[in-house]
Amino acid sequence: MYNYRKIAEDVFYVGASDRRLALFENIYPIDRGVSYNSYLVVDDKTILLDTVDHAVSREFLANVEAALQGRSLDYLVVNHMEPDHCSVIAEIVLRYPEVKVVGNAKTIQMIKQFYSFDVDKHAYLVKDGDTLTTGKHSFTFVFAPMVHWPEVMVAFDSSNGFLYSADAFGTFGALSGNLFADEYEFEKEWLDDARRYYINIVGKYGVQVVNTLNKAASLPIKMILPLHGPIWRENISWFIGKYMTWASYKAEEKGLLIIYSSIYGNTADAMDILASRAADLGVRNIHMYDASKTDVSVLVSECFRYSTIVFASPTYNAEIFPKMEMLLIELKAHLFQDRDVAVFENGTWALSAGRKMTEMLSSMKNIRMIEPMVSIKSSLKSEQMEAVDSIAQKIKELV
Ligand SMILES: Cc1cc2nc3c(=O)[nH]c(=O)nc-3n(C[C@H](O)[C@H](O)[C@H](O)COP(=O)(O)O)c2cc1C
Ligand SMILES: [Fe+2]
Ligand SMILES: [Fe+2]
Repeated sequence: MYNYRKIAEDVFYVGASDRRLALFENIYPIDRGVSYNSYLVVDDKTILLDTVDHAVSREFLANVEAALQGRSLDYLVVNHMEPDHCSVIAEIVLRYPEVKVVGNAKTIQMIKQFYSFDVDKHAYLVKDGDTLTTGKHSFTFVFAPMVHWPEVMVAFDSSNGFLYSADAFGTFGALSGNLFADEYEFEKEWLDDARRYYINIVGKYGVQVVNTLNKAASLPIKMILPLHGPIWRENISWFIGKYMTWASYKAEEKGLLIIYSSIYGNTADAMDILASRAADLGVRNIHMYDASKTDVSVLVSECFRYSTIVFASPTYNAEIFPKMEMLLIELKAHLFQDRDVAVFENGTWALSAGRKMTEMLSSMKNIRMIEPMVSIKSSLKSEQMEAVDSIAQKIKELV
């Protein structure tokens, strides 16, 4: 059975959601599932914008067939060649042998790498800024390199102002009936997942995202149709604003984030004491996580969110505790920068976690250390409270 949806005149949603997958890209937990969006425009010519992941191919193919209502498919636009969107290309070509596959030189090259059908026979090559008219609708392709992968482009339909934005403006989370962001309480239900999706998947490429946003700023956008999550037709500038903040590596909120590792609980106790002292001084918007309990993708996302961050770790076999080390590696990989940061270390005989954490943080751009680092020898002692209070006071001045 099919389940395609009409979005607007001639425009249909033919994607589907997956709530079974545990890990997106086999690394990011997705408790709320994920949607693989695909759009079909039925004009004088028919045009499909991207396909979906294997997981929902059955639903997708049924939707495409039903929405075409007996017509053939003239064009398949491949805005992004990652397999969560391109998995069904060969099947589409088999079913609609006359279809032209629209992509740029890099896209076509990647299709050849992933597939073994006669790509050249179907290829319809476009350059940055090229336009394809299907009748009433006219699609301009704007290259968005590294807004996830190098071949990525977005398609803008100038007839209705629809921007088919590929991974940009996407989010984790399955769709539950409603297709539009304004039909959900987006900020409450979706924003954390949208931030986690952006930061972890595209976060490294902030400069390229800003470039694309600047290119898109000149377009009269009425709707943003991403490849994951709800479609935007209201409050678009609010969501673009979020992207601008994330892409420029600025903190989204003034706030204190404390992330610790702790084997026996002493480092955790010290962080609870620090949080209480900061709270007593009037600091608000304080958030605490145990790095062993919370997935690193959430921690990375939270680090991008808040302005001031405390990292605390015991020494573990002369190293940083592995869960904390992983977080710092991930932060560096995502070009984390421009934050106020304090470090606490713990250890019983030879402390080295603090120095190593400081080194890793100092290798990131524009990280301002709140000093001095506090070293705990097994458990926090009352004579160290002055040092803790001094850090709390400095945090108070920053947050
Ligand atoms: C496997 C293991 C390795 C450790 N390696 C070190 C070490 O190299 N240097 C050190 O000073 N302490 C080391 N420790 C001790 C802890 O860092 C220390 O007990 C610390 O106080 C634990 O803090 P916690 O109570 O927050 O877990 C190690 C502990 C464990 C379990
Ligand atoms: Fe992608
Ligand atoms: Fe994707």
